[in-house]
Amino acid sequence: MPAPPVPSGSDAGDGSRSVYPDDLRDLVEGYLAELSYSDRPETTGLEEAMRYSLLAGGKRVRPVLCLATARALGIDPATVLPTAAAIELIHTYSLIHDDLPAMDDDDLRRGRPTSHVAHGEDVAILAGDALFAEAIRLVAERQTGDPARVLSAICEIAGATGVDGMVGGQYVDVVGGGTDAESLRLLHSLKTGRLIFASVCSVLVLSGLSLDEQDPYRRFATELGLLFQIVDDILDVTGSDEELGKPSGSDERHGKVTYVSLFGLERARELAVGSHEAAVAALRETGGDASALLQISDFIFTRQS
Ligand code: IPE
Ligand code: IPE
Ligand code: MG
Ligand code: MG
Ligand code: MG
Repeated sequence: MPAPPVPSGSDAGDGSRSVYPDDLRDLVEGYLAELSYSDRPETTGLEEAMRYSLLAGGKRVRPVLCLATARALGIDPATVLPTAAAIELIHTYSLIHDDLPAMDDDDLRRGRPTSHVAHGEDVAILAGDALFAEAIRLVAERQTGDPARVLSAICEIAGATGVDGMVGGQYVDVVGGGTDAESLRLLHSLKTGRLIFASVCSVLVLSGLSLDEQDPYRRFATELGLLFQIVDDILDVTGSDEELGKPSGSDERHGKVTYVSLFGLERARELAVGSHEAAVAALRETGGDASALLQISDFIFTRQS
């Protein structure tokens, strides 16, 4: 299979745009590794299950987006780590539940046996539940800043997870929605887009940026979320289990309507190109130091895993 398209203008001349912001990823990894949730020995097994999935080496796109947004706004990225980590906890919970036998019934995730394969379905469900609750606690307890802004960030994150977000999108997915271009766009925007959008917007609200100034960032984040899931649909067809760290061909096996099944591979790639261009165009309007956000946009577009 041919590789996904290389973005036009993906290199600023010094190669900087083709590089993932590893310094930000390292900050995230260090913070996630330090997290613990209770001293009670009775629940050690639950924490082990949470850490098994959380520390299995995901790409960390969402928390790195949080930190890169902070950098674009001239804020020290380390100050938004609780919010960034919370979104990764929620994302990890969504993956654990997405893989369950009642959902996509997949047995490989982040290059490891899925949570229910390793720990049993009951513990996997609870590990997901606990990751969500601990995420909200993390922001409420540890995110510094004006309390009203922290509350707004929690609203962004919880809203992006709930009925008008990831869980609502997963519902539309499991009941077989998304059968035409418009409804598939809605499905993708909810199940994947909203949490990626929240990764940017939670930091915008923490920063206190005016709504007018937030606008191009919001358009960027909306487009990036859609792009992420279009590329995920493409990789499900073109990637290998080893590259993806999860079973390729899962969508077709489950009869899922995706950008590839609906439009074909070539048209899906064209739509990804358009989505990437729209995201980058919005980013150019922000006027901040968008270099790390540009790097993530290019990474999301050209990623092979
Ligand atoms: C996979 O997300 C699930 C989708 C929303 C498409 P990622 O591709 O970000 O998975 P990790 O975090 O790198 O494992
Ligand atoms: C699910 O989408 C996105 C989530 C909310 C977890 P997919 O079912 O396509 O995600 P993968 O391909 O299993 O990672
Ligand atoms: Mg799924
Ligand atoms: Mg899945
Ligand atoms: Mg997928």
